[in-house]
Amino acid sequence: MIRENWGTRLGFILAAIGSAVGLGNIWRFPAVAYDNGGGAFLVPYLVALVTAGIPLLIMEFTIGRRFKGSAPVAFRRLNKNAEAIGWWQVAISTVIAVYYAVIIAWAAMYTFYSIGQTWGDAPDEFLFADFLGALNADGTPVGTFDFGEWVPNLTLVLVAVWIVTLFVIGAGVRRGIENIARIFIPLLVVMFGVLVVQSLTLDGATSGLSAFFTPDWDALQDSTVWVSAYGQIFFSLSIGFGIMITYASYLKRKSDITTSAFTVGFANSSFELLAGIGVFSVLGFMALETGTAIDEQVTDGVGLAFVAFPAIVNTLPYAAGLFGVLFFASLTIAGFTSLISIVQVPVAAMEDRFGLNRLKGTIFIGGGIALVSIILFPTTNGLWLLDTADGFINRYGIAVAALVSIVVVVWIAWKWGELRRDANRTSTFKIGYLWLACLGVVTPLILGWMLVDNIRTTIENEAGIDQATLVYGWCVAGGAVLFGILMALLLRNKDVPELVDEATLTSGKEDTQ
Ligand code: ALA
Repeated sequence: MIRENWGTRLGFILAAIGSAVGLGNIWRFPAVAYDNGGGAFLVPYLVALVTAGIPLLIMEFTIGRRFKGSAPVAFRRLNKNAEAIGWWQVAISTVIAVYYAVIIAWAAMYTFYSIGQTWGDAPDEFLFADFLGALNADGTPVGTFDFGEWVPNLTLVLVAVWIVTLFVIGAGVRRGIENIARIFIPLLVVMFGVLVVQSLTLDGATSGLSAFFTPDWDALQDSTVWVSAYGQIFFSLSIGFGIMITYASYLKRKSDITTSAFTVGFANSSFELLAGIGVFSVLGFMALETGTAIDEQVTDGVGLAFVAFPAIVNTLPYAAGLFGVLFFASLTIAGFTSLISIVQVPVAAMEDRFGLNRLKGTIFIGGGIALVSIILFPTTNGLWLLDTADGFINRYGIAVAALVSIVVVVWIAWKWGELRRDANRTSTFKIGYLWLACLGVVTPLILGWMLVDNIRTTIENEAGIDQATLVYGWCVAGGAVLFGILMALLLRNKDVPELVDEATLTSGKEDTQ
């Protein structure tokens, strides 16, 4: 089988940034940062970026490029017994893809609603009762095995989101993913930049910013703050669920690894900080307008984007429609370039492992995932399903899979030396024992602690969680692990097809990019 390559190094970096910068940056980060000590959160956040985010990104880039395959194939080539990790990551990506797409559909619809502020004077009622038709009109969890009914308009928009996504994936790595990133990432930066500048001009912006940046140093002694920082970095950098391994597998053999990892890591965090600045400026404005405290304005992701922001748009003194359009269009674009990368993980895995061509992979695997998403999520109970899947797959999927992958690669398969040499062979910035200490010691210790802490909190809160949430949540998180093990067992005696680099074939020799 012939394997595609990225057209240029910049194309790869833009696609990787497109994957990293997503819903996690715009709606999750500001709320997580504020809940975890405001300015003081930036300390654990930056520690998490440097000690875990970038070292793991370097590991995933190197594995992808060296073993030339999507996650299951790359792990199998790394060690015959490690294939299950790759399939586990495929399952995690699939779970994320099915609910992630529906948030993009909401954002796309809210882009149009912004023009005439269709949500009226009570955006919360509009969101839960009119827009989502939620079973509980106040948005509280329903906790039932009944998935409710489809919401017609939302279902149609979700179908459109999937058609466009599959079209890009079907067009291929270079013609589809790379070209989309080249257009949308600069556009996103400009649009979001304008939005942040407009936010900074609002009255009250400085008090919002001081709420965001004033550190609560006591928060640093709280273990959950550190756990949240590491969790945020993994989701936000798209590491631990196969994406960066898959994207790096399309790199040419001589491309730089470490500089690209630093570029992607710092670009993603810069965007995240920019989102924090923009969001808190407008929250400061809203607090001033309504005479309330800023913490009353901060809610979770759904509340922040789809309730607080529409309310803010209603109150803006000028260019309100433009502000709404910029915000929701940014959310749509950021989410869209991430969704493409998430869906590419299962599609590429099936193509690589079963020799499917791109068209079949896109139609059958991508189409199958789209179908599940369309059946389950644009429904009156979709919000609850989404919250449950998101909570469990973040707590017991991404970070745990990352922990297992590091322990296996570094300590069991003992591949750190080989990977380090491979990365250094072509990178300007060389990695050494500091990388190993962060990747092999600091990160596993923190991820292990995170796992224990998450299990403790889930058990402590179990009494307050309804049964449907627990059953469904554990099925999602546990099902992903089981899927990984089963696929690896089924394929144990099936050799991985040989994958030849397009670049090697066409040039007759390897080239740099
Ligand atoms: N990295 C993507 C995000 O932040 C998944 O949303």
